[in-house]
Amino acid sequence: MTNILVSVAWPYANGPRHIGHVAGFGVPSDVFARYERMKGNDVLMVSGTDEHGTPILVEADKEGITPQEIANRYNRIIAEDLTNLGLSYDLFTRTTTKNHEKVVQELFLRCLHNGYIYKGEQQVAISPSTGRTLPDRYIEGTCPLCGADGARGDQCDACGQELDPIDLINPKSKINGETPLFKTTEHYFLDLPALAKANLTWLDSREGWRTNVINFSKGLFKEVHPRAITRDIDWGIPVPVDGWIDNPNKRLYVWFDAVIGYLSASIEWARRTGKPDEWKKWWTDPASLAYYFMGKDNITFHSQIWPSELLAYNGEGELGGESGELGHLNLPEEVVSSAYMTMEGKKFSSSRGIVIYVRDILSRYQVDAVRYYISAAGPEKQDADFTWAEFVRHNNEELVAGWGNLVNRIANLIYKNFGCIPEVKEDDFTAEDQTLLDTTLQGFDNVGNDLEHQNQHAAVTEIMRLVGLINKYISDMEPWKINNRQRLATVLFTAAQAVNDIDIMFAPFLPHSSQKIHDIMGGKGMIAPLPHLEEVTDLDDSQFQYPIITGTYHLNETVAPWKRELITPGAVIEKPSPVFTKIPREAVQEEIDRFKADMKQKKEAEKARRIAAKKAAQN
Ligand code: MF3
Ligand code: ZN
Repeated sequence: MTNILVSVAWPYANGPRHIGHVAGFGVPSDVFARYERMKGNDVLMVSGTDEHGTPILVEADKEGITPQEIANRYNRIIAEDLTNLGLSYDLFTRTTTKNHEKVVQELFLRCLHNGYIYKGEQQVAISPSTGRTLPDRYIEGTCPLCGADGARGDQCDACGQELDPIDLINPKSKINGETPLFKTTEHYFLDLPALAKANLTWLDSREGWRTNVINFSKGLFKEVHPRAITRDIDWGIPVPVDGWIDNPNKRLYVWFDAVIGYLSASIEWARRTGKPDEWKKWWTDPASLAYYFMGKDNITFHSQIWPSELLAYNGEGELGGESGELGHLNLPEEVVSSAYMTMEGKKFSSSRGIVIYVRDILSRYQVDAVRYYISAAGPEKQDADFTWAEFVRHNNEELVAGWGNLVNRIANLIYKNFGCIPEVKEDDFTAEDQTLLDTTLQGFDNVGNDLEHQNQHAAVTEIMRLVGLINKYISDMEPWKINNRQRLATVLFTAAQAVNDIDIMFAPFLPHSSQKIHDIMGGKGMIAPLPHLEEVTDLDDSQFQYPIITGTYHLNETVAPWKRELITPGAVIEKPSPVFTKIPREAVQEEIDRFKADMKQKKEAEKARRIAAKKAAQN
């Protein structure tokens, strides 16, 4: 048994999440966590909303409310959506808890003590018209590294590299187009060059990462500079140093704190379970493995910034040092990054209406249809396009016609002919029966191997191949024509066992329907538990309440083991009702019309806004 930490990227609490987001970090991490639990490993799956930094500030400014109000609103919406998607977090929390603040400050102070954080000066952008500092994300220009236009002051989306605003060629404020002034202010820096060697040694020791992820990660080390990890803004975690801690205009940089969330959430989880040291199993036991799930724009922070923070805390860079009170912390086993998803051929953009929010798709379609689509056709290793036509096709042809109908057919035949799983004898099985049973049994190894290696598309393909074999077996055997009752019993028993095997293999992907099918097939108890929301009080601040996602995911109690579960003769089979719903073909056009109307509406709103702004400027 291995301790497996499933670390899932923290969504920004600056708006609701769309299907592209959850295709990147959400469903794949849940499939993996569920599979590892079924294998008997000890899984801790953590995440939360990322609530500091300029993304939240920008949204708060837009609405004229406080950043905490924005964070509260979207933390709740996101937590609800992820719960409804069935993502089985042990803890989904947030970065504005006191616990998180304490852990972040502990890391900062130890890295400072070890010499990997030092004070220096940095040029920061200020708006000449207002005199206020301009956050990195408000500045746009040409990327000095790849030459792409539209690079932001914090990152270039074209080449994925992190930037500082001062590096941009021809920088402009995104708010009003003016050229920012730069002034020098004091900041703390993370000494990435002093950590680069250790960081790269760790990367070199990685095996089995997706090629593009490992190549991109190593590429980050061609040139390494120190990074400022404080900002001249008033929203974020206070810098725990005399003279800084009370300064309302100096805060830690959002990415410095966000990645520490994996650790602080593990600690919060342990504290909430009443065993406050339990988190150490996943963090300080060197045999534990940590897998990090995200979209590819997050690779830099998980292959470089976070490992460097951990190495600095452990005292494992060129300057030496010793780890702090939390002990020697584990680095990631694997950074599992997906590629990008587009929608109907276009880049997702909430402001342009090119978006389908998790909440909206779940309000119209079955949750497992969404999970299935992502697992079968999401941006696993290559960019992928979400189209309504493909969504409907995968649902109707694969889930409904392929899998759902098979379950229904078998359950119905058993219900009509026997009313329960029929009795069979060992030597009743023909070679054909045995071949089918051997093949689905083998599926546990094949599919398991794909899941262990983060090949979820391949896993789904293999499961659907087995579904096809069972369907073929039924058409070959034609049970509706069999008059010999014992033979009919054997054929239906064989098919039912094969269906039950598939149902268990589908459990990581389709927890909602797998549980239903388990019940239909006369199975007992839980095989695929679902998470729930819980209202809690901050462990260190009785005034602060928030929702968490959590759940009870225990092997053999709520989680089926990853192996054949023998069906039991005599188990009652009721008349089944269909588990999956066919989507009418017209839905494709309706969705596309809705999508176009959204885009048009956003365009008009934007036009009106610009005209109003122009008028206001003239007056
Ligand atoms: N909020 C970031 C994003 O949405 C992801 C943060 S992952 C973290 O891109 F855990 F490192 F914070
Ligand atoms: Zn670039």
